[in-house]
Amino acid sequence: MEFRAPRGTRDILPSEIGRWQHLESCFQELCRLHGFEEIRTPLFEHTELFSRSVGEESDIVSKEMYTFLDRGGRQVTLRPEGTAPVVRAYLQRGLASQPQPVKLYYYGPMFRYDRPQAGRYRQFHQVGVEMYGAGTPAADLEVISLCTSFFNRLGVNGAELQLNSVGCSRCRPPYRERLVSFLKPREELLCADCRRRHRENPLRVLDCKRPGCRRAITGAPLLAEYLCRECSEHFLALLRLLDRSNIPYRENPYLVRGLDYYTRTAFEFVPREGNDSGSLGGGGRYDDLVEYCGGPATPAVGVALGVERILLAMGEPEGDRYSPGVYIACAPGEEEAEVEALSLARELRDLGVVAEPELTGRSLRGQLKLANRKGYRRVIIIGPRELEQGLFTLRDMVGGSQREYSRSDLLAEVTRPVSGPNSE
Ligand code: HAM
Repeated sequence: MEFRAPRGTRDILPSEIGRWQHLESCFQELCRLHGFEEIRTPLFEHTELFSRSVGEESDIVSKEMYTFLDRGGRQVTLRPEGTAPVVRAYLQRGLASQPQPVKLYYYGPMFRYDRPQAGRYRQFHQVGVEMYGAGTPAADLEVISLCTSFFNRLGVNGAELQLNSVGCSRCRPPYRERLVSFLKPREELLCADCRRRHRENPLRVLDCKRPGCRRAITGAPLLAEYLCRECSEHFLALLRLLDRSNIPYRENPYLVRGLDYYTRTAFEFVPREGNDSGSLGGGGRYDDLVEYCGGPATPAVGVALGVERILLAMGEPEGDRYSPGVYIACAPGEEEAEVEALSLARELRDLGVVAEPELTGRSLRGQLKLANRKGYRRVIIIGPRELEQGLFTLRDMVGGSQREYSRSDLLAEVTRPVSGPNSE
């Protein structure tokens, strides 16, 4: 029987893991520099958490959740996003009573039953931040500028920041009504999804990419014209801060995002080269969600970035040809040599050197070939002659030169950083 991974999932192989780890540590470091602390929430939650906060009518809740009954008959869902679980933890674990703003970050897998294609998976990863208790445009700016610094550090430069204000619970309902009546005579043009949305979540029609829907919304009233004074001032202040921070952006009056909890600021990082794999990340303000989930009224803002999509946008890095450790080759079938190799490996690891001893019993020539393929620049050889003389041969795989060392000289030599092509 041949097992295959479920559709839309990936194995992250050793050859790719370096890029993942680089991205993760870069994100962690930036969060630390911005004063965000890590939070880890469960991979599954009660379904209701998502259906109530992300919204019953959203694509995520209506079509994409991995929901099942557990053995106790409870309905649970593999988390499709990180914001709702973080809000839940913020309230349940007493973070709401800590000094505000509470600034949290997370990293991990999310699950959506999406149609798999490049950059779109059923298990994918997000890095994200959430900030509670700061309602100022400066808080929005901090979240956005953390993302732009992240992209800069990773060398991702093809993402355009698009920005809109989706208003608040005061100014959105009258707009919503205007939009519904504007769309009514144009319903014929709408795709099946948008006909449903038109009734249940009309704002989502605005960012449908299908040609009929794009035509239907031509000339539609814009939310910007309906914003209340506070929402409008907040948005203009954020734009000024972005200008003064030299963060380029484009206002997109049709950007509404696919999750229902947003208020005021909504933004996305959209790849410039119109590829279809979707945005690199998105977020915004969600000032009503904490209260909606049973907590005190608390302004909140956050973002999540798609790790797979960022890795695609980063392109291929220049790989390091050589690994910094040593391979320890030993005469096959010689127990003495094997014991020596294993004990040397332990000693080197205690000194912080990556050390891999031979384990398969192949020929010395085969071992050298393997070490080269594995990218070891330095190989310690323990052959019959070395055993007899109590010495160790150190081979430089770049030029092929070899030298013999006593044990103590060898340890001094391999703990010294290598210069030349290996260290670049
Ligand atoms: P979202 O826009 O649903 O927002 O997802 C954020 C990012 O996750 C997307 O821009 C994309 O890069 C990535 N992503 C989403 N679905 C997939 C998929 N099927 N395959 C690969 N990548 C994917 C949220 O999740 C909100 N929780 C963001 C947020 C945080 N808002 C406030 N705080």
